[in-house]
Amino acid sequence: MQSKFCDLVGIEFPLVAFSHCRDVVAAVSRAGGFGVFGATNGKMTPDQLKIELDWIDAHVDGRPYGLDIAVPENMADRDAEAVTTKALEAQIPDGHRRFVDDLLARHGIATDTAVDSDTDREIGHFLDTAERMVDEGLRHPIRLFVNALGKPPQFMIDKCHAAGVPVGALIGSKEHAMRQLEAGIDVLVAQGTEAAAHCGEVSTMVLVPEVVRALEAMGSDVPVLAAGGIVTGRQMAAVMAMGAAGAWTGSVWLTTSESDVHPAVRERLLAARSRDTLRSRAMTGKTARQLRSAWNEAWESKDSPGMLPMPYQYLLTHRALLLAEKSVDGGNDAARAMLTEGVGQGIGMVASAKSARTVVQEFMEDFADALERMSGLMEVEPC
Ligand SMILES: Cc1cc2nc3c(=O)[nH]c(=O)nc-3n(C[C@H](O)[C@H](O)[C@H](O)COP(=O)(O)O)c2cc1C
Repeated sequence: MQSKFCDLVGIEFPLVAFSHCRDVVAAVSRAGGFGVFGATNGKMTPDQLKIELDWIDAHVDGRPYGLDIAVPENMADRDAEAVTTKALEAQIPDGHRRFVDDLLARHGIATDTAVDSDTDREIGHFLDTAERMVDEGLRHPIRLFVNALGKPPQFMIDKCHAAGVPVGALIGSKEHAMRQLEAGIDVLVAQGTEAAAHCGEVSTMVLVPEVVRALEAMGSDVPVLAAGGIVTGRQMAAVMAMGAAGAWTGSVWLTTSESDVHPAVRERLLAARSRDTLRSRAMTGKTARQLRSAWNEAWESKDSPGMLPMPYQYLLTHRALLLAEKSVDGGNDAARAMLTEGVGQGIGMVASAKSARTVVQEFMEDFADALERMSGLMEVEPC
């Protein structure tokens, strides 16, 4: 396909799959899409990133893939050095801890069992760790490096460009797009409010043409990928009709057979309707779309002690959700109500678990059908 983005990253079909799961990333790239590994889950450190990217390199059959980190432009003390999870946890107010403990207890979830988040770790949101993540990423054959949550730090742009790797950034408004262009970004991911995780208020339907038009007006040829709510090939065709160079997706991969989400979370996602998500600070401390659950409803309720800023809120969420999953594994059905996940409104159209390869193939077929249907509208009947 003729697309600036395809040429830039070396693919034929501009379907991008963001995933925290290396198996999904490799499977999508092998199937002809472009997997992007999200190095942003609770256990990601520079050392862990090496392990994940080594694995992808060994399983992607030489196909191109990308990497995504989140270095928030607006986060207190992001230039503090050698910050670890334990040091941050020590600063969480007692009232917030009690609120979480009470909430978990009401769902029969024990708080005194060990979970993975108990391990003390560095956090990639902070500049010193992020720089080591960038260095590690660039030791691998990645074809695109993306930052979420604002302008990437200058070292990321400089190091990627020196290595010949294009840099992308997620944006939620036209104003964000302009700032990213000034910073020297090579790919914009215009993410509408329908999207999973951190998102703004403007819909994909409005944001994409708005950003494309603004770029055209200034003579910029930076490709714009559309994100938010896209779970089918016909939606991909629609955003490309609006000027996007491709689709950037996340939610649709959560329920694939390769995905490492907990089986009970997968079950809830497959049962979810498009109205079952909400935007809330309950998950990370910044506004993010997520599956409605007893966790976010409690934080949004009048009894809430108020959500903490990033990264503190995520530390509470991560541990609580791991405890809830463990409790479900132990046979406590009441814990299921607590389970949540970053997910977008498009999940309402995802009804069964399929392999990532099948999802890519269905995107391709549905995309082709949509194009055919549209060109059929233009055909003139012979008189
Ligand atoms: C569970 C989950 C976590 C996400 N975390 C990040 C992240 O850390 N960094 C990022 O750039 N995007 C993240 N996203 C957003 C995706 O990159 C993508 O923009 C979004 O999923 C697109 O909307 P969709 O979910 O409707 O397809 C996440 C998405 C999901 C599903």
